[in-house]
Amino acid sequence: MESIIYCFSGTGNSLKVAKDISAGLKDTEIIQICEKNMNINNTTSNKIGFIFPVYASGIPLLVKQFIEKISITKDSYVYTVVTFGAAAGASIKQLEELLTDKGIKLSAAFKIKMPGNYQVIYAPYSKAKQKKCFDNEKEKISEIVKSLNNNEIVGFSGLGESLRRTVGGMIYSSFSPYEKDKDFWTDKKCNGCGTCSKVCPTNNIEMIEGKPQWQHKCEQCLACMQWCPQKSIQYKKVTRKRGRYHHPDVDVTELFH
Ligand SMILES: Cc1cc2nc3c(=O)[nH]c(=O)nc-3n(C[C@H](O)[C@H](O)[C@H](O)COP(=O)(O)O)c2cc1C
Ligand code: SF4
Ligand code: SF4
Repeated sequence: MESIIYCFSGTGNSLKVAKDISAGLKDTEIIQICEKNMNINNTTSNKIGFIFPVYASGIPLLVKQFIEKISITKDSYVYTVVTFGAAAGASIKQLEELLTDKGIKLSAAFKIKMPGNYQVIYAPYSKAKQKKCFDNEKEKISEIVKSLNNNEIVGFSGLGESLRRTVGGMIYSSFSPYEKDKDFWTDKKCNGCGTCSKVCPTNNIEMIEGKPQWQHKCEQCLACMQWCPQKSIQYKKVTRKRGRYHHPDVDVTELFH
């Protein structure tokens, strides 16, 4: 493979970005960052992308663990695209630091605003607001692909970046998702289809007597809740009347791990 994209995605935004980028690059494979792929520890390609959502202003923990383990050839062209709802916070800086610790340079960094998917706090975006994000994504992808095809160096510093990183770092330090799955439950609509278990990137859901049981190694990606065909999975009391979101151009089976 000429290039590899390592992608983590709960509701498909980052996977959509990865698919669109891979369509513009030569000979590119997308490998999802999930429990099943955590044993991948070296990469032979020398164009490497990390595409993932911003969580609590930083990097999802599974992505961090994946990057800590993987060995990358020193002169590789490494880039990232982060997707976010409001702000990319400290995510890119954190990635740069993880790579620097391994002696690897982050050559290019991009951010793309997508619909916010943290529906345990807020409602899904309206269709009009979603469309705005998707139109913006399309535009950004063509610029990004152009840069990547030329192995361009693209920095990410800008006005207010240092403040964003500092505040982001503070928010991230209190992010502890693993046990938060204790607040998921299913209502009467659950029919035992098992989709929630299949989309879970950390293999955190066991089906016991036809019902999901969460095993406390949760990333809070919300894939289980967002992709449940019955909208049966709830978080505390707050999601019962709230809609659900996943990217319309991604099929649930693309996220079966
Ligand atoms: C646990 C969690 C934390 C999030 N934290 C942030 C955040 O700090 N800032 C932000 O802009 N978006 C945040 N989001 C929104 C996602 O970054 C955004 O919707 C992303 O595009 C989702 O990507 P995915 O569909 O590939 O999972 C968060 C989402 C989740 C699930
Ligand atoms: S995806 Fe929904 S309906 Fe299917 S088993 Fe899980 S909770 Fe039940
Ligand atoms: S249990 Fe649900 S929210 Fe937690 S990692 Fe799995 S799919 Fe994501």
